[in-house]
Amino acid sequence: MTMLELIRKRRSIRTYTDESIDRQTLELLVETLLRAPSSRNNRPWEFIVVDDRDLLQKLSLSKAHGSTFLKGSPLGIVVCADSTKSDVWVEDCSIAAILVQMTAESLGLGSCWIQIRQRPHDADSSAEAYVQQLLGLPEHVRVESIISIGHPQERRPPLRADELQYDKVKHNRYDEPFS
Ligand SMILES: Cc1cc2nc3c(=O)[nH]c(=O)nc-3n(C[C@H](O)[C@H](O)[C@H](O)COP(=O)(O)O)c2cc1C
Repeated sequence: MTMLELIRKRRSIRTYTDESIDRQTLELLVETLLRAPSSRNNRPWEFIVVDDRDLLQKLSLSKAHGSTFLKGSPLGIVVCADSTKSDVWVEDCSIAAILVQMTAESLGLGSCWIQIRQRPHDADSSAEAYVQQLLGLPEHVRVESIISIGHPQERRPPLRADELQYDKVKHNRYDEPFS
């Protein structure tokens, strides 16, 4: 499949079968993460590959909403960065995260981004502090997101061409539509 075909097909998948992710697949996903481009080639990211079901269950409680499905996932990749190494670690992490989602798609797996940075855990604490504490991360290792990955249990139709927001695209000037 071409990259464009994969991009057309990809949807966020939040329910997975019980099947675990084999070691060879895991290594391909890790290779993808480490090949991600980063500003000044600083490579500030660090990744925690979590396949321990008990830990995944605990990570699923990171937020009140939007992370609960992680308890049914065989894999969560916690996307972090040493924030002292780059002022654009968020961008660097985002690129690694979407690349691993696309590699997952190319391998027939489903994935979903779970936002951690800037999200609350509860009224008193952040989702980021919860994950840092749970995984033993030092304070300067910031958490951007968790990418859940598994064998898809659900099928979601691709976005139709008429759902694409072409009005968001301008041509040369902001007041000139692209189409
Ligand atoms: C920055 C970002 C944060 C997201 N956070 C969450 C999240 O916390 N929980 C969740 O279930 N989905 C999350 N998503 C997935 C979006 O809800 C999803 O990409 C969007 O609804 C479009 O659907 P699609 O991915 O199927 O095309 C996030 C996606 C992005 C890019």
